[in-house]
Amino acid sequence: METLIVYESLWGNTRQVAEEIARGAREGSDALTLCAVADAPSSLRASVGLLIIGAPTHAFTLPTPSSRAEARAHGAAVAHAPGVREWLATLEVEAAPPRVAAFDTRQGRSFMVGSAAKSIARAAKRRSLVVSDSADFVVTSREGPLEQGELERAFAWGRALTASR
Ligand SMILES: Cc1cc2nc3c(=O)[nH]c(=O)nc-3n(C[C@H](O)[C@H](O)[C@H](O)COP(=O)(O)O)c2cc1C
Repeated sequence: METLIVYESLWGNTRQVAEEIARGAREGSDALTLCAVADAPSSLRASVGLLIIGAPTHAFTLPTPSSRAEARAHGAAVAHAPGVREWLATLEVEAAPPRVAAFDTRQGRSFMVGSAAKSIARAAKRRSLVVSDSADFVVTSREGPLEQGELERAFAWGRALTASR
């Protein structure tokens, strides 16, 4: 089974989570590609059996051009455009849809802080992709770092996603 992991990250926290998910998922995958959304393919190959998508939560949802600009104004080094929102809006799914998992980073566990993963699920549905698994990882402040233990959780989540097939 081929695994593709696509992430957006402004300060690097979501990237770190994606890297740990990839480490966890590698053993259970025949092939694994980890890429920043700027480098993600515009169409899904039929060989991709598991697609994992991650993004930071901005204003309760997926980053937008203006929230990325705000992050940049607060010192974020990178502001991807397109991000996950734009990538999903035009993604071509040619063959049978893969299994899809979504994750986000955010500033708390309460539903009050919003969830980019939920927005990923809604955007994926518009491409006929069904998100069957999701996870959230918490940062201690807007710029990070991640809470203690989150990278270990990310590794375990990646391993479980590929072990359960
Ligand atoms: C413009 C902006 C809006 C944000 N809004 C939220 C929010 O609604 N809820 C939340 O939990 N975190 C919010 N955050 C914090 C981000 O979730 C946090 O910066 C992100 O998880 C860090 O990941 P990254 O390093 O990959 O960019 C916001 C951050 C920015 C820059």
